[in-house]
Amino acid sequence: MFKAQLNTNTLKNKVDKNIYGHFSEHLGRCIYGGLYVGEDSDIENVEGMRKDVLEALKGIKIPVLRWPGGCFADEYHWKDGIGPKEQRPTMINTHWGGVTEDNSFGTHEFLRLCELLGCEPYINGNLGSGTVQEMSQWVEYLNSDNISPMTDMRKANGRDKSWGVKYFAVGNENWGCGGNMYPDYYANEYRRYAVYCRNYGDNKLFKVACGPNNDDYRWTETLMRMAGRDMDALSLHNYVWRWSDYATGFDATGYFDVVRDALDMENLVTKHSTIMDKYDPGKRVALFVDEWGTWYKVEEGTNPGFLYQQNTMRDAVVAASLLNIFNNHSDRVRMTNIAQTVNVLQSVILTEGDKMVKTPTYHIYDLYTPHHDATLIGCDVLENEKYTVDVLPRRNDRRMPDVLDSVNISATKAEDGSVTATVCNIAHDKAVECELDLIGNEYKEATARILTSAAFDDMNTFDNPDKVVIESIPVELSGGKVKFTLPAFSTIAVTVK
Ligand code: AHR
Repeated sequence: MFKAQLNTNTLKNKVDKNIYGHFSEHLGRCIYGGLYVGEDSDIENVEGMRKDVLEALKGIKIPVLRWPGGCFADEYHWKDGIGPKEQRPTMINTHWGGVTEDNSFGTHEFLRLCELLGCEPYINGNLGSGTVQEMSQWVEYLNSDNISPMTDMRKANGRDKSWGVKYFAVGNENWGCGGNMYPDYYANEYRRYAVYCRNYGDNKLFKVACGPNNDDYRWTETLMRMAGRDMDALSLHNYVWRWSDYATGFDATGYFDVVRDALDMENLVTKHSTIMDKYDPGKRVALFVDEWGTWYKVEEGTNPGFLYQQNTMRDAVVAASLLNIFNNHSDRVRMTNIAQTVNVLQSVILTEGDKMVKTPTYHIYDLYTPHHDATLIGCDVLENEKYTVDVLPRRNDRRMPDVLDSVNISATKAEDGSVTATVCNIAHDKAVECELDLIGNEYKEATARILTSAAFDDMNTFDNPDKVVIESIPVELSGGKVKFTLPAFSTIAVTVK
């Protein structure tokens, strides 16, 4: 049995819709073939952007998109990606498959994509191999309406008005692919580069400093101490790495192994936030988990540098649980970006030629849309069931317990007064009876949508794209309580009015 009390009048902070953000890198088929096919493609497109993918992303109200990387960001020189396409220089994408990048998708194309999606752009600058001047000029090119060389250049390239880009990151993973730096060295570099990322007009940049990898608490401590006052957000990257295992074809132990490791996000967010609290008790600086997801062995026969993997109900459980964690920490976590939107790692969309499928992870984003910019409410778990497996995984990198709570939850209140709880049962082997006690208001109507399937490794394929889809189901509302049975490895969104 799972019982929770929803204190519908205990209003906490806003759940920033950017928690439901995405990440697109020049990596494999994320940009080329995934988001962008070019205007001359036979695949239906709007100014070169795939129409089916645009529609699908609009369906989950994508609020923000990060670009151009990732590791690619720290070797990307933005001036290579502007102006007439036939004159743009090529480069080798050394991080990702060693392929030739023709720069046909650059600043203008990315910002047009965001306009078509109706989402905020989040641009990652190059600190690792770029200069201060180069970064500074990119910001000027993006945001200045003054008479200036960069503004003139932008106008000559067909864009009169500045874009007013708000979210700007000063380097990516500078402890690794972004320059292999020590935290104090990067903190100094961050401060220097950030000075020259200017505000133009009314647009105030929201500057993001490269944060820690996983549990590197020393990085967070150093950055907050040395540069906390100069940043608006610190990023955190955390993946569930299973480089020797495919995304499919796992058993109960393999299922448990990945889900358990993913749940360590609760510890990571709590501990990094606690360090941030020491330097920033008012929580001015946000924590952006701007890369997260599952990372398996690439699908057989695909380029190892392209990170193309399938996506199953196991990934849906990971996404649902982590999004509940992010909601519950939304006083500090104000943006997250799943890696990556299309065809790379834990994608929400897969494409093959002109075909497209929505993954189980996509459907979790769909279920969670009522949380966008809603208000977190008090939610007390009174009773839960325990979950483990007969054969425990050999590895437990993060020292997570062998016995987990079966069910996790988060709940928000929308402006119209409706309350939505998203509830995920991670157990692979049992349904759980759930009861949500609605305290504070009288509700007359309860509706529910569920993502469930027969097997934990069920997925959507190009031949069977709708094997895993959301269904509406009836739930019981009586005596101020909502009751339902939550099947194994399933997630439900219950809304009461
Ligand atoms: O998302 C793939 C890669 O993972 C990104 O480029 C990098 O930032 C991280 O290591």
